[in-house]
Amino acid sequence: MRSVLFQPINLGGCQLSNRITMAPTFVAYNNFDGTVSDATLEHYRDMGAGGAGMVVVENCIIDHERSWFGRLLRVDHDNFLPGLTKLSGVIKEGGAAAFCQINHGGRYSTNPNLIAPSPIRAFDWPEPREMTLDDIKEVIQMYAQAALRVKRAGFNGVEIHGATGYLPAQFLSPRTNKRNDRYGGSLENRMRFGLELVQAVKDAVGAGYPVGYRFMADEWMNDGLQLTEAKVYAAKLSAVGVSYLSVTAGLYESMFTEDKIDLSGQENYMVDYAGAIKEVVNIPVVAAGRIATPAAAERVINSGQADLIGLSRVLLADPEWPRKAKEERDHEINLCRTKCDSCLSLVMQQKPAICAAWNVERKKKFRALLDK
Ligand SMILES: Cc1cc2nc3c(=O)[nH]c(=O)nc-3n(C[C@H](O)[C@H](O)[C@H](O)COP(=O)(O)O)c2cc1C
Repeated sequence: MRSVLFQPINLGGCQLSNRITMAPTFVAYNNFDGTVSDATLEHYRDMGAGGAGMVVVENCIIDHERSWFGRLLRVDHDNFLPGLTKLSGVIKEGGAAAFCQINHGGRYSTNPNLIAPSPIRAFDWPEPREMTLDDIKEVIQMYAQAALRVKRAGFNGVEIHGATGYLPAQFLSPRTNKRNDRYGGSLENRMRFGLELVQAVKDAVGAGYPVGYRFMADEWMNDGLQLTEAKVYAAKLSAVGVSYLSVTAGLYESMFTEDKIDLSGQENYMVDYAGAIKEVVNIPVVAAGRIATPAAAERVINSGQADLIGLSRVLLADPEWPRKAKEERDHEINLCRTKCDSCLSLVMQQKPAICAAWNVERKKKFRALLDK
C-alpha cells in the first residue's frame, strides 16, 4: 500500500525518487545579511537526508532594495552563489532533489521603498509605489537572473513563489491590482505579469530545467481572487510549460483570522484546492496543508487530488517522516502538534523557528548553531 508514496515521478526533466516533498518553509535560520548560515546548512542537510524526494528551499529574495524582511535568503547577486551552492550540495548529498523558491514581496515587505501593482498598503507597512512599465520589465528580468543563479548554484530546479499574496499574486488579484493598463482590469490582463515572468524565467534557465510554481487557489478574501479565476490561471501556467503547481490558499491578511486559524489546524485543509486545480491542468500537482500522517498522504494520492505531497511544519517537526513512512514505522514519527503554530509566529517576528515538538537535544543543537 505504501508503494503509492514511493513511486518515482518526473518534474519537468528532474526525476524524483518518491512523491514526498518538503514544501518551502522560511525558518529564519539565515544570517541577517541574507547569506546561508551554519544553522541553515544543518537544517537543510537533515531535510535532504530524511528521505523526501524533493526539498524546496524557502522564499529567496530577488530584489533586496525593494523587497526585504530580515533573515530571508538573498538570490539577487552573484555574491550569494558560494553559500547557495553549499546549500544545494547538502540537500543533494542526502539523496533529495534540491529546488529553490524565488520571490519578490511587492507590497509585503518592510522596506520604505516598496513597489506593487497598485498603491494599496498591507497592514501598517509603507504604502507601495505603483510599478511603472519599466519597473515591471526590470523586476521580470530580476526573476530571470535569480532563476539562472539558482541553476548555477547547482539546484535541480527553481520554484516561482506565486502564492501567499506576494508580487505575482498581487497582480492576479482584483483586490490589489487596480491598474488601468495592460497589466490590470480583466483577468487576461491580471494574468499577464505572472505569465511573462514564467516565460522570462524559462528562457533564462533553458529547456529541460524544471520551473515550478507555488500557486494560490483562493485568497480567502471576499473581494479577492477566487477559485474560478485561479483555475483559468492554472490552465494557462500548465499550457506555457510550468513543470508543476504546488497549491495553497490564503494570504497574510486572511490566514490569521479566527476561522482560518481553526481551518489550518485541520488535517488536509488545502487538499480540495489541489484537487480542483488538478482537474484543469496536465502537469503534476503538489498538495499541502496538515497532511500529518503517511496514511493521510496515501489517501490524498490515491484520491487522485494530487500527484505529490508537500510537508512544511510536519517535516520541520520530524525530518525523518519520509524514511519512517517508507519503513512503516509510523508510530515513531514525531508529529507536529496541530494546534501549535509557534514556528509561524516566531518567523513572523524574524525569530528562528525552534519547533515546540523537538526533543531537548535538537533544540539545544539549533540554539547553539544560531548563537554562533
Ligand atoms: C513557518 C512557516 C514558514 C513558511 N514559509 C513558506 C515559504 O517560504 N514559502 C512558501 O511558499 N510557503 C511557506 N509556508 C507555507 C508552507 O509551505 C505550507 O504550504 C503550509 O504550512 C501547509 O503545510 P503544513 O501544514 O505541512 O505546514 C510556510 C509555513 C510555515 C508554517
